[in-house]
Amino acid sequence: MRILVVGANGTLGKAVVAELGSRHEIIAAGRNSGEKVDISDIKSVRALFKRLGTLDAVICAAGDAHFGMLNTMTPELFDIALRSKVMGQVNLVLAGQESLSDRGSITLTSGTLGRDPILAGTSVSLANGAIDAFVRAAAIELPRGLRVNAVAPTILTESVEVYGAYMRGRRPVAAADVALAFSKSVEGAQTGQIYLVDA
Ligand SMILES: NC(=O)c1ccc[n+]([C@@H]2O[C@H](COP(=O)([O-])OP(=O)(O)OC[C@H]3O[C@@H](n4cnc5c(N)ncnc54)[C@H](OP(=O)(O)O)[C@@H]3O)[C@@H](O)[C@H]2O)c1
Repeated sequence: MRILVVGANGTLGKAVVAELGSRHEIIAAGRNSGEKVDISDIKSVRALFKRLGTLDAVICAAGDAHFGMLNTMTPELFDIALRSKVMGQVNLVLAGQESLSDRGSITLTSGTLGRDPILAGTSVSLANGAIDAFVRAAAIELPRGLRVNAVAPTILTESVEVYGAYMRGRRPVAAADVALAFSKSVEGAQTGQIYLVDA
């Protein structure tokens, strides 16, 4: 398969590329490495798909959000996750569907915080819940047998140093184990699924 991985150079993206790279042609993309794209900008996303031609799968392992206590949050701070993690991934579905071969797939990334909230996590929970709901709804409308799923990981072992203080009481999962859920989505046949990867 010809697979676009957006965020291929990130913590999760590298593990996804390691899992799928030996069996498939991977096209790596990101803001600053590989094929350049800003998923929050629909023009940039459309230009990416126009450059790449036909694909069999699109994976998104990218999407920013701001962590902050609710009483410090502003509309602008919520907008970071809405524009990047939510609309960035929706943009990939909107613009990417026409580039996909029949029965091709799009796999997005949400996270466990949509259903298991933490302090300072309202924006991330909002984004994760939105992506999960979007995936369930988009799956019943996509044409030509196209599929869409989301992977919802808890904190990655590789990210404990950065986010561990926010995520007390959660057992981390290795990025390589989360990557298996992307394999299940891309190399399987399911659609409209949220693959929870929790320890
Ligand atoms: N890490 C965790 O513990 C964890 C847990 C649950 C869910 N998640 C979710 O998993 C996803 C990836 O997280 P991560 O920790 O792997 O992040 P990361 O290490 O910061 O990597 C993110 C990658 O996405 C790219 N990217 C970011 N914004 C982009 C944009 N607007 N357009 C195109 N590419 C963009 C970055 O490219 P550049 O480097 O070129 O900027 C980078 O390659 C996020 O949605 C995150 O919420 C992560």
